[in-house]
Amino acid sequence: MKKKTLALILAACMALSLAACGGNGGGKDETKAATQAATEAATQAADNQGTEAQPAEGETAGTTADGAGKTVGISMPTQSLERWNRDGAYLDEQFKAAGYNTIVTYSDNKADQQVNDIQNMLSQGVDLLVVAAIDGEALNPVMNDAGADNIPIIAYDRLIMNDNVSYYVSFDNYTVGVLQGTYVKEALDLDNAEGPFNIEFTAGDPADNNAGYFFNGAMDTLKPYIEDGKLNVVSGQTEFDVVATEQWQTDVALDRAQNVLASYYSDGTKLDAWLCSNDSTALGVSQAVTSDYAGDNDVIITGQDGDVANLRNIKDGVQSMTVYKAVANEAVVTLDLAKAILNGDTIDESLITAAGWGFACDYDTESYATSEGHNCPSFLLVPDVVTVDNMEEKLVTPGYYKVGDDGYLEATNG
Ligand code: BGC
Repeated sequence: MKKKTLALILAACMALSLAACGGNGGGKDETKAATQAATEAATQAADNQGTEAQPAEGETAGTTADGAGKTVGISMPTQSLERWNRDGAYLDEQFKAAGYNTIVTYSDNKADQQVNDIQNMLSQGVDLLVVAAIDGEALNPVMNDAGADNIPIIAYDRLIMNDNVSYYVSFDNYTVGVLQGTYVKEALDLDNAEGPFNIEFTAGDPADNNAGYFFNGAMDTLKPYIEDGKLNVVSGQTEFDVVATEQWQTDVALDRAQNVLASYYSDGTKLDAWLCSNDSTALGVSQAVTSDYAGDNDVIITGQDGDVANLRNIKDGVQSMTVYKAVANEAVVTLDLAKAILNGDTIDESLITAAGWGFACDYDTESYATSEGHNCPSFLLVPDVVTVDNMEEKLVTPGYYKVGDDGYLEATNG
């Protein structure tokens, strides 16, 4: 089932590679074609969700002593944003390998559909829920239902502001933004260069609890330079709500970037950097810069996730960096935490010591709360910066990606 969708994503990547190979790599038309191909494949993948979301019964069975016949409901937001395909695949694979039954759904970025999907999981008698929320607030009623049934809930990657959430597994979201801001600071040498430099911001989906953390991490890092005039936001658009991107959509980011470029940069004003909170938005901004920016300097563009299309852009010099989060490890933490919950073990940092993971993860009871005064114990992994210079070391050596025949990175899982 998921193979078909992953095949579509791979088809998009092939289309991307063809588009890029057709010209000088990174030219205006090529980038546009590449983005179109990615968008079409993502749409196709999304269209297939109805039939593919729910694994057939035979596919989910696979009980061993470890999982002891327990069923875990894994609710992912959408297949149209690349990373969630990886998350869903890793989680499904790892829970099954540990002997759990799984029900995996992708809800097409529709909050109502995710509520229904989770309701179905509850009626099928799941023992634990792993939920990456589309819109945390919209999930309140179904989180309350799960709580009433005493079903433990792990908020996966995105926190849900509901006290029935038992634990949170994610990366240090604020640090993601700090890494992006620091990259810009260092690339422009803000502490030494005379400047001033011009920058714009693109943030994520306001319905996603993470989006504010990413933005604040970046803004807190760059604000001192904005305040002392070394960095200038020419559009004046510095508020999260103004620079946010509905559902993290590439097209939405593209439209806004085109508008900003037309309104503030068409007179030849130089654009030095565009801080984007993630790769799907960076894809739209890169396209706008490639096609609509009049200047001939390289514009620093940040991202997050290490999506295949963005790794191509990084190699081609169209995007400068991405913050990579090893979602395979996020799935490992989620599995070990779920096991501990279902076994009734005490859960604190001893889980980390006992697990002996080969990667860093902090147990944090202070940073996240599901409501005022109700802190949510969290397991937070560590994000990392990937650039053209360390791509192979960070992504290929650990086995997350491989180098394709065309020299660009492609996913190894799926
Ligand atoms: C995730 C990011 C991702 C974004 C859009 C966020 O919640 O943490 O990794 O880029 O959603 O999918």
